[in-house]
Amino acid sequence: MCGIVGFTGSRQAAPILLEGLKRLEYRGYDSAGVAVLDSGDISVVKTRGMIKNLCEMTHDGADVKGCIGVGHTRWATHGVPNDVNAHPHLSNNGRFAVVHNGIIENYAQLREELISSGIKFKSDTDTEVVAHLLEYYGDEDAKVAVMKTAARLKGSYVLGVLCNDGRLFAIRESGPLILGIGVGENYFASDVTALIAHTKNVIYLDDGEFAELTPDKITVYDCTGSPVTKPVSRVVWDVEAAEKGGYEHFMLKEIMEQPRALKATIEPRIKDGRIVLEELGLTDEELRDVNKIVITACGSASYAGQVGRYVIEELCRIPTQVEVASELRYRGPIVDSHTLLIAVSQSGETADTIAAIRECKEKGARTMAIVNVVGSTIAKLVDHVVYTWAGPEVAVATTKGYTTQVAILDMLAIYLADKLGRIDKERYDQLLGDLQEIPSKIQRAIDLNTHVQYLAERYYQNRAIYFIGRNLDYASCMEGSLKLKEISYIFAEAYPAGELKHGTIALIESGSPVVALACYERLFDKMVSNIEEIKARGAKVLAVALEGDKRIVSQADDFILIPRSDPLLVPIAEIIPLQLFAYYVAKANGCDIDKPKNLAKSVTVE
Ligand code: G6P
Repeated sequence: MCGIVGFTGSRQAAPILLEGLKRLEYRGYDSAGVAVLDSGDISVVKTRGMIKNLCEMTHDGADVKGCIGVGHTRWATHGVPNDVNAHPHLSNNGRFAVVHNGIIENYAQLREELISSGIKFKSDTDTEVVAHLLEYYGDEDAKVAVMKTAARLKGSYVLGVLCNDGRLFAIRESGPLILGIGVGENYFASDVTALIAHTKNVIYLDDGEFAELTPDKITVYDCTGSPVTKPVSRVVWDVEAAEKGGYEHFMLKEIMEQPRALKATIEPRIKDGRIVLEELGLTDEELRDVNKIVITACGSASYAGQVGRYVIEELCRIPTQVEVASELRYRGPIVDSHTLLIAVSQSGETADTIAAIRECKEKGARTMAIVNVVGSTIAKLVDHVVYTWAGPEVAVATTKGYTTQVAILDMLAIYLADKLGRIDKERYDQLLGDLQEIPSKIQRAIDLNTHVQYLAERYYQNRAIYFIGRNLDYASCMEGSLKLKEISYIFAEAYPAGELKHGTIALIESGSPVVALACYERLFDKMVSNIEEIKARGAKVLAVALEGDKRIVSQADDFILIPRSDPLLVPIAEIIPLQLFAYYVAKANGCDIDKPKNLAKSVTVE
């Protein structure tokens, strides 16, 4: 969702801001703009649509002079995507330019108040109240005006504020914001991908803090205006990792990166034949104290949680539930100090997941998170964190983010089962051996690329595709169908195969495409029967099964055979052909794969 960048230094700001915005494109947006200060005047250029429009309008920023400025990509919440609603928003006296990510919940009341004191509004946004409030308090020092304004706002707001006297502020409340430290220049941005071309030294702001940036100095303050000493962190990601590297789309690049991402996530955590999760910071006694696990997340991360639930319950025999965060947060979750809440999130910034963690924390649950972005809000909020080492993920549809989350959940399950004494040595060693082989098995699944592309060309014209499976296959069906619908806009839904005859089978008619996952061997015969049932009603079946499953080959219309491994670990390889299938179906339909319509990579508002 909305992306923010800010720069101050001795170089021209606009080209730097535009480049930063391009790196934030993946977050999802519908308009973009920059504000740059030159000789006491703030110029604003903004437009609906793509950043390339903004680049054309400004000759890649060359037309907008000045060495200090802010930039923004907007994902519309209040007011349609148009030029007027695009950020930055200027105060009527031209003194302040504001960019904002989040939602100001009390904006209607503030707007009324400002209108009744004679202030004119130009846009429909919640953000514009900030510009006018700054003007209202603007007789004071700019820092005081910023503080007084922030104190009036309710909701989530990450703000960049540029003043015409050359001062630049970044404010954070419930949203991502990172400060970048350069040499003779400083930056802020919604995430590190916008900064890593310039600096790897960053400061993570906390909620309620704000910063003033000059070319030589960054000063961070708490909400009362007292300076706060912040640690400087070093980013490990490099620029190449956040670029396409010759691939047509980020999504394809990220699919192909999975063997490496999984190796980076799994390998360092296996030492001397044991899984080592010391980073978790949970003692054996604390682990033994857990009598219930609640996994919460949104989107694909919740489906990674579904896989995790099957594996944890089977190995640890601890009751485990998965609930999407937008539901859990409002349900008065039944948790206590014996509950381990596991939040799963690639970005670490998903608003509902953050709220669900807060809710469970308040009720006394022990909280942990599986997160990809170091220093993110979720990573800081929970009691315990384990990072996936997937590297930056740019495509809106997650791939390596998801598989690395599943890998951590698998490792956690094995680790916990061992600590609880619920797994014998033979099974432990066998699972560990198979875990170590995952990166090479994933590579073999990726090698099915050409075959999957051929299949996608046979299915891309369908307007609805059903996914069926049982147990872990059902968990993978949920993610496989989500991948397809989010990037190809084809109706795709996952059903537990055993439930078909309670409703969904009524939809099956001659030629109905069904993706049937039959990798969970313990229920293989049951799946074969389900395939027979739908075939008898005319379905066209694309089956995914394990190498050597001859019965599937003879039964299905099309098939994909993936490498074998322990049944609990199969979902990681199983999802690869489904990611590729979604990718090639979307491509054949001419869809904007990396930036699907209406979707955002990082959903920082409710
Ligand atoms: C968005 C993304 C999904 C992602 C979900 C949760 O909807 O498009 O790919 O699964 O948010 O994001 P998180 O960063 O919390 O994993």
